[in-house]
Amino acid sequence: MIFTVAIDGPAAAGKGTISKEVAAHFGFAHLDTGLIYRATGARVLAGEDPLAAAQDLRPEDLQRDDLRTGEVAQAASKVAVMADVRAALVAFQKSFARREGGAVLDGRDIGTVICPEAEVKLFVTASDEVRGERRYQELFGKGQDVTREGVLSDLRLRDKRDSEREAAPMKAANDAVVIDTSEMTITEAVEAAVAAVGTVLR
Ligand code: DC
Repeated sequence: MIFTVAIDGPAAAGKGTISKEVAAHFGFAHLDTGLIYRATGARVLAGEDPLAAAQDLRPEDLQRDDLRTGEVAQAASKVAVMADVRAALVAFQKSFARREGGAVLDGRDIGTVICPEAEVKLFVTASDEVRGERRYQELFGKGQDVTREGVLSDLRLRDKRDSEREAAPMKAANDAVVIDTSEMTITEAVEAAVAAVGTVLR
């Protein structure tokens, strides 16, 4: 069975948790496409050329444990502006999306560019303040040296860059179901996403 769930939206809206839970619920494979950009960004921070890093990306690059920092997030957002870097990463994502057995991909351009033919498209969002607080708690909880103000302004900077870039800007596909998680618990958000997929799968 070929079945793709495309989940897009801004940073810290809950895409990651929702994607994992939806994939587990339906037995689909999951790809966090942000990790691909983070891994490329991390290699650029280490001095590599962005395109060379993207073209040479390896599975172990995605397993590095230093990809979830504010610094790597910004580096990811910066390399993600480059059309040649994005082009180098497209084929892998497209084939993952149409793999046998069902797939959930989360990112910024999955429903619009990577898999416009996805059977289900969700756009998961939340207010800046809610997303900032969630990301602050996440990073602070991991022992990172962060402030609420710093996390919120980093997030806004990244959203602006991600949505205003020319190549595959972040936006909801016309046929996406929008889930605003500002006032939802994570359980409610997952239930809403599972229900949206269930309607189409049935
Ligand atoms: O989802 P994330 O926060 O881990 O993504 C990090 C950055 O990668 C994000 O700011 C923009 C970029 N990105 C992208 O341009 N397209 C995607 N499909 C996923 C991420």
